[in-house]
Amino acid sequence: MKIDNEEVYVMAIIMAAGKGTRMKTNKAKCVHKIMDKELVRRVYDLTQKCGIDDVVTVVGHKREQVMKVLGDDKKYAIQEELLGTGHAVMQAKEFLEGKQGKVVVLNGDVPIIRKETLDTLIEKSVTNKEYATLLTAIYENPKGYGRIVRDEGGNIQKIVEEKDTDPYQKEIKEINAGVYCFDIEELLKALDKIKPNNAQSEYYLTDVIKIMNDKGLKTGAVIVEDNTEILGVNDRMQLELLTQVLKERINREHMANGVTIEDAKSTYIYDDVVIGRDTVIHPNSIIKSGVVIGEDCEIGPNAYIRENCKLADRVKIGNFVEIKNTQVGEGTKIPHLIYMGDTVIGKNGNVGCGTITCNYDGVNKNKTVIGDNAFIGSNVNLVAPVTLGDNVLIAAGSTITDDVPSDNMGIARERQTNKIRKKK
Ligand code: UD1
Ligand code: CA
Repeated sequence: MKIDNEEVYVMAIIMAAGKGTRMKTNKAKCVHKIMDKELVRRVYDLTQKCGIDDVVTVVGHKREQVMKVLGDDKKYAIQEELLGTGHAVMQAKEFLEGKQGKVVVLNGDVPIIRKETLDTLIEKSVTNKEYATLLTAIYENPKGYGRIVRDEGGNIQKIVEEKDTDPYQKEIKEINAGVYCFDIEELLKALDKIKPNNAQSEYYLTDVIKIMNDKGLKTGAVIVEDNTEILGVNDRMQLELLTQVLKERINREHMANGVTIEDAKSTYIYDDVVIGRDTVIHPNSIIKSGVVIGEDCEIGPNAYIRENCKLADRVKIGNFVEIKNTQVGEGTKIPHLIYMGDTVIGKNGNVGCGTITCNYDGVNKNKTVIGDNAFIGSNVNLVAPVTLGDNVLIAAGSTITDDVPSDNMGIARERQTNKIRKKK
């Protein structure tokens, strides 16, 4: 990848072999999801957003599940015995040997680091010519994390794991985030020197820092600005916490871009959603990944906009409406109690309350196509595949199984009969 106009080879190692005992799970920890996306997939996607050249994932416990998430075409190193983070990286040795450049090491259970943060870490490591650059944070409650020990000059000396700290070190508030950028050749040399002489009898990756410093190699750190980025998932409470943190972050980005969100607490907008200016989102709405929404739209309350939806400007999606794989033209209103799936609807339409597209016949998903200026009455079933032209009117309560040409009215329901009511 290009850094400061210089071509630098950067690879990444994702450590994802751990057990996740505290998750109380039958699955690999890293395949648990935050907003639809597996933890390990989030970490992998981060490497791709940063333009990292090669990625190796270290897998061990329930490795087939992790490999299924990332795919067979990726590179894996297998860690048979879980002997620590240093040991995990050693398993990827064959991918590092003979290479020159940088290797970024990431924890598979730290899934919401920002692209900008990792970019900064790599850039600093390259421009300052550091052999190890760490991501650190200042935590009021540093319990459980490795502590960063600095000398009087502020230079990093070593990392001490919580279980190995002395009372003085325990008070240190700067912690190791578990994200590193190393020089490949010097990392390989340092890994050879790690010994499991510590409270947990593990090979600690963090020992590499002291080994490099003893050798006189320059090391450094980037202190993360937003502490929430480096939160990890060790149990289900943290899984929920990270979901909330990510949700809040995404909502803020949309608000900063000119979207009104009435109640950010109850609004779930997944990754990579595009929303135009002046669109208003009412409470309890869920918008899934990849959805595109135009300007001046109104969404919710209680709207569920699922995958592959594209809404033009001034569209209204009202309460208790679910849409999936659907395109909605400019100015069309889909106001209440509606399900639309696999549908294309043109502009300036109005869809009545209770309308549903019957898109699934038990085997296939079928398409509904509706032209411009449609007026669909209440409680209509559109049995797909079905095509409705422009300017159609569908009578309330109709079950439409045949196409309706432009400028026609479709009516498909029993005629009403009234009968004298028998008295008891
Ligand atoms: C690690 C760091 C600690 C840091 C913290 C930040 C070490 C020794 N300590 O501690 O300084 O503050 O992360 O979150 O590195 N893994 C393997 N194989 C193993 C062991 C772990 O793949 O044999 C993976 C785990 O799946 C996990 C990651 O490495 O994704 C981190 O391991 P974990 O045991 O959670 O390390 P921490 O104790 O949190
Ligand atoms: Ca951890």
